[in-house]
Amino acid sequence: MFASTKKILYKAHRGNYAVPHFNVNNMEIVQGVVQAGVNLKSPLIISTSEGAIKYAGLNFLYELVHTAANLANVPIALHLDHGKDLATIKRCIKLGYSSVMFDGSHLPYKENVRITKRLANLAHNKGISIEGELGTIGGNEDLVSTKKIIYTKPEQAKDFVERTGCDFLAIAIGTSHGAFKFKGKAVLRHDILKQIKKTTKIPLVLHGASGVPKKIVQQAEKYGAKLTGVYGVPNAQIKLAIKNGINKINTDTDLRLAFDAAVRKFLKQQPKDFDPRHILGPAREEIRKVAEERIKLFGSVNKK
Ligand code: G3H
Ligand code: 13P
Ligand code: ZN
Repeated sequence: MFASTKKILYKAHRGNYAVPHFNVNNMEIVQGVVQAGVNLKSPLIISTSEGAIKYAGLNFLYELVHTAANLANVPIALHLDHGKDLATIKRCIKLGYSSVMFDGSHLPYKENVRITKRLANLAHNKGISIEGELGTIGGNEDLVSTKKIIYTKPEQAKDFVERTGCDFLAIAIGTSHGAFKFKGKAVLRHDILKQIKKTTKIPLVLHGASGVPKKIVQQAEKYGAKLTGVYGVPNAQIKLAIKNGINKINTDTDLRLAFDAAVRKFLKQQPKDFDPRHILGPAREEIRKVAEERIKLFGSVNKK
């Protein structure tokens, strides 16, 4: 059984902490993040992007996370990340995801409201919750990309939530997807965040929030990765964002970096070993470690 994303997030909203949202693409990533949640007794939101679904298949990912949720003794919700394709969003709702995101940030405001509202009705009829997005988060990934950051307008956020009935809202306060988040100083617009929280009074979501830990980057570079210029969101900024009303924090890049560093290290150190279990086992372990660091930072330890 999956947990309700809405329940998990409204509990965090009341308790002033954030629940980790981890993007998954394969079994090792699922097992790594779930083990972290179990070890620290933290609720988890496990998320599949449209790119992940394209790679592994919707039913396959659904069953994989479902098995993990049934084996774990912590609440685990399954979420669709950055849903843009209406057919995929409807399939996830029908299949029994805990929540879906409609990413209409690229659309004119009225159009974003219209579609989010329609999908919110559809999701709510099935007892599923929905995440909307307003403003644009920067960065480039597989199927998720935006060239420019447009900060969310607090007054528009209030109007958006009232009109659409979305359960939680992704906002743009200066973060971006991927490993290249800031060129100069890493500063988020906490003033905007505080105003949005005050006017909407719902759980708010921070995308593009990976920390891009130096230790992991250095490890990957030591074994051949080229990562010049990578820069993540500093931990102090994350803590302040939680204090100011963020209750769901999305992490994908840090998991990718940890996986990459571990695989590179193994292949370099053991050139004669070609057993996939020996190659991917250490990657799963590094995923667990980085997920545990995120859970501790977000304050969701023992909140199961
Ligand atoms: O926010 C985007 C996620 O990190 C997913 O990226 O489309 O490459 O799977 P992806
Ligand atoms: P990162 O690229 O910072 O990990 O952000 C992931 C994300 O926002 C997924 O929706
Ligand atoms: Zn995102």
